[in-house]
Amino acid sequence: MKFSLQVAARLVLGTGLALATPIKRVANSSSISSTQILQFALTLEHLENTFYTEALAKFDEPAFEKAGYAPWVRGRFEEIAEHEASHVALLTQTLGNNSVAPCNYSFPFSDPKSFATLSNMLESVGNGAYIAGSQYLVNDTASLRAAGAILSMEARHASWVKSSVLLSQPWSSSYDTPLDGNLVYSLASTFIIQCPASNPPLPFKPFPSLNVSAADANDSMPMPGQTVNLTYVHSTISGNRQYLAFLHGLNTTFTNITNYQAIIPPELQGLVFAVVTSDNTTVSDSTIVAGPAPLTFDFDANVPNY
Ligand SMILES: *[C@@H]1O[C@H](CO)[C@@H](O)[C@H](O)[C@H]1NC(C)=O
Ligand SMILES: *[C@@H]1O[C@H](CO)[C@@H](O)[C@H](O)[C@H]1NC(C)=O
Ligand SMILES: *[C@@H]1O[C@H](CO)[C@@H](O)[C@H](O)[C@H]1NC(C)=O
Ligand SMILES: *[C@@H]1O[C@H](CO)[C@@H](O)[C@H](O)[C@H]1NC(C)=O
Ligand SMILES: *[C@@H]1O[C@H](CO)[C@@H](O)[C@H](O)[C@H]1NC(C)=O
Ligand SMILES: *[C@@H]1O[C@H](CO)[C@@H](O)[C@H](O)[C@H]1NC(C)=O
Ligand SMILES: *[C@@H]1O[C@H](CO)[C@@H](O)[C@H](O)[C@H]1NC(C)=O
Ligand SMILES: *[C@@H]1O[C@H](CO)[C@@H](O)[C@H](O)[C@H]1NC(C)=O
Ligand SMILES: *[C@@H]1O[C@H](CO)[C@@H](O)[C@H](O)[C@H]1NC(C)=O
Ligand SMILES: *[C@@H]1O[C@H](CO)[C@@H](O)[C@H](O)[C@H]1NC(C)=O
Repeated sequence: MKFSLQVAARLVLGTGLALATPIKRVANSSSISSTQILQFALTLEHLENTFYTEALAKFDEPAFEKAGYAPWVRGRFEEIAEHEASHVALLTQTLGNNSVAPCNYSFPFSDPKSFATLSNMLESVGNGAYIAGSQYLVNDTASLRAAGAILSMEARHASWVKSSVLLSQPWSSSYDTPLDGNLVYSLASTFIIQCPASNPPLPFKPFPSLNVSAADANDSMPMPGQTVNLTYVHSTISGNRQYLAFLHGLNTTFTNITNYQAIIPPELQGLVFAVVTSDNTTVSDSTIVAGPAPLTFDFDANVPNY
């Protein structure tokens, strides 16, 4: 069964489009300090913390039972919620008076299953954010150690939800996908309505949103080897060639875009992130046109996974 984060992503990107940039951005982002990276980490941890608090307040034990989950599933989510609260406390203590306060959020879940699906995505994106963000902590080894300890826990959360709750693959490939600040920001900001004016600006900006949908009306979800239709704003570089790049593990696979269509590489598995680029050799802040769109290609235990 092909089951996709695109469900959550569609709802999310749909709501995000209507909102102004919720997090203030510093004018010059060429140098990112360890304090700014920790502030970004705390921004994400506040988001996750509120996400679990709201969901567990909304869905009690009978709600999980009704959704078909064993009683221990909600108990594990409570443990995850405790971890996120602890991450918030640790980063707040580390940052002291440079801490950022929580924002107001909007999460598009409607039942325990859509909550679990979104949980898996938030944890996976958080994991990718810590992987890529750690390079800015090389001069702050105490924070680097803490970030490593949080990173692996986010990965366990994502893995547990995907395998034990959603009954699918616990991983995507031999490597998780590092996600640079602007990519993470683009995904996270779609859940954020408004942040306190007193929060310091962050050195990131969202890219224009990208919608990837199956070209064949009979397919509910994009699938490897199939053609997809792309919807994105591209006014600034119209006329140039564009590509659909898939970030997966440490690899990037480029495909051509023709008339707003592209073919998903057949070999992709698990969670991948699609971005439209103006170049077919490099994905960077200066070549990304729109995205990322998270896509999940579930695979069973009988196929090779590289
Ligand atoms: C993405 O495109 C599909 C197909 O056109 C549409 O059903 C869906 O609502 C779109 N999602 C967003 C967030 O615009
Ligand atoms: C940004 O800051 C860097 C280093 O401080 C500086 O070299 C660069 O000129 C600045 N760029 C802009 C656009 O202000
Ligand atoms: C934070 O507190 C320190 C002293 O503990 C002070 O020097 C610094 O200016 C304060 N920073 C802010 C942003 O308030
Ligand atoms: C780490 O410190 C070195 C030496 O001061 C400096 O050149 C480098 O830019 C710093 N790296 C980061 C990521 O702050
Ligand atoms: C969040 O929403 C509450 C009311 O629901 C409001 O009082 C508060 O000002 C909002 N905070 C921000 C940062 O938007
Ligand atoms: C995808 O795009 C093609 C070409 O524009 C169009 O004919 C087709 O109907 C689209 N598919 C869906 C599901 O909207
Ligand atoms: C889509 O499904 C309908 C009904 O099963 C079928 O008639 C049609 O040929 C299918 N279209 C494609 C492109 O497979
Ligand atoms: C990149 O993908 C190829 C297959 O497409 C695979 O053989 C290789 O191991 C991957 N490398 C990394 C670093 O993920
Ligand atoms: C993309 O198109 C170019 C020609 O425009 C072609 O040379 C290249 O092989 C295509 N790449 C893929 C992955 O299909
Ligand atoms: C990248 O684009 C160039 C120019 O269109 C083309 O020659 C080359 O084959 C493309 N590479 C891939 C991997 O599609």
